[in-house]
Amino acid sequence: MVNIQELMAGATGADARLMRGFADRAAGFRPSPVRDVFEVSMRPGIISLAGGNPDLELLPLEKIGEMASSIIAREGLEVLQYGSGAGLEELAELVCSFMESEGSRPTLDEVQMTAGSQMGLDLVTKLFTDPGDVVLAEGPTYTGALGVFEGYQAEVQQVEMDEHGLVPAQVEERIKALKAEGKKVKFLYTIPNFQNPTGVTLADDRRAELVRVCRENDVLVVEDNPYGQLGFDGTRHRSLHSYDPEAVIYLGSFSKVFSPGVRVGWMVAPPRVRKFLQIAGEAVTICPSVLSQRLVLGFMSEGMWESHTRKTSKLYAQRCRAVLEACEQHMPAGTEWTEPEGGFFTWLTLPEGAKVSNAELALPEAIDAGVVFVPGTAFYDDSAAGVDVTEPAGARNLRLAFSSVAPERLSEGVSRLAGVL
Ligand SMILES: Cc1ncc(COP(=O)(O)O)c(C=O)c1O
Repeated sequence: MVNIQELMAGATGADARLMRGFADRAAGFRPSPVRDVFEVSMRPGIISLAGGNPDLELLPLEKIGEMASSIIAREGLEVLQYGSGAGLEELAELVCSFMESEGSRPTLDEVQMTAGSQMGLDLVTKLFTDPGDVVLAEGPTYTGALGVFEGYQAEVQQVEMDEHGLVPAQVEERIKALKAEGKKVKFLYTIPNFQNPTGVTLADDRRAELVRVCRENDVLVVEDNPYGQLGFDGTRHRSLHSYDPEAVIYLGSFSKVFSPGVRVGWMVAPPRVRKFLQIAGEAVTICPSVLSQRLVLGFMSEGMWESHTRKTSKLYAQRCRAVLEACEQHMPAGTEWTEPEGGFFTWLTLPEGAKVSNAELALPEAIDAGVVFVPGTAFYDDSAAGVDVTEPAGARNLRLAFSSVAPERLSEGVSRLAGVL
């Protein structure tokens, strides 16, 4: 795996000379462990339970191809040009009506289009955190978010979840304790639906309370919801944003329901804050890709989205069942796993006293056995004071992604992994 400290320490010649000029924040950069194992995942014969990729096999490619070609032929002068910094208005309008299914009613001036939820995370962190400010997150959380927070030199504090997600009283307790230490707690980052990496969903009856405690303690909520439309039974949970649009910034994405390659997502924030996000975004990309947004608009408005989401949710449900059944069949006694109701992931916990006490150390052996996964430690910030180096957080955990592997291969992959564990 790429290690930033080693990358810096091992530099010679021009690299070393330039690196001496790096800003302090470069030391906080965190390579994605998922992208790290990407090349290994591509090796023939390897079964990858690592990447949270959507399965694109069911996309109506021919229809999308015809649509793309007609868009360029008929609207080329607009879609190949720079566009609005806020994004394509027709797509933002569609986002507004789409969000009604989660109970939110944003207005057009509250919607900012992005190049994916990842960009939204970057913009929100850039706008709200100074070095040393605290960002609260679930423990464990999306490793790409940790990379952003650490890159902006925020202090990440993770609050453990139970099987129904964050416990509002515990979040409040942590906020109060941090404030008592004189720290500035800027926002709570949360993935309420089919969470990455655990697959856990925040219970509906905790949602209003979570938003309330954050608002009362003057802590913004950043709600990241790329998987929310992928409930196995079609259930859409009410968004945190819908409970208090003044207290929550919402991040949405078309990556998991259409294509991560088009790089289109959105954010919802009160109008003036949204304008600041636009200005911050323009400094990076000038405008969201007009062509990509137009493709998404076509996919959504020509009715392909509903049928594709229905089909893929069913497929993911099947794959989730296959992976859980294989765990039941092959995993060592005492191993536990979550039972997701949607999304791409399940989260394994090895029993105390297991042969493998840190899943990260088992990765090379797993690769030799022909299977790859992401170790649990990747989903925790390890720079916080007081980290136990003998058993770092997440050491006994593994994230298994089932979204892009056929059921028979999932079963074989879990069997190979169990052999190593
Ligand atoms: C929780 C979470 N947020 C954000 C992202 C990034 O999404 P996007 O492709 O929209 O940038 C991912 C991708 O895996 C994710 O799991």
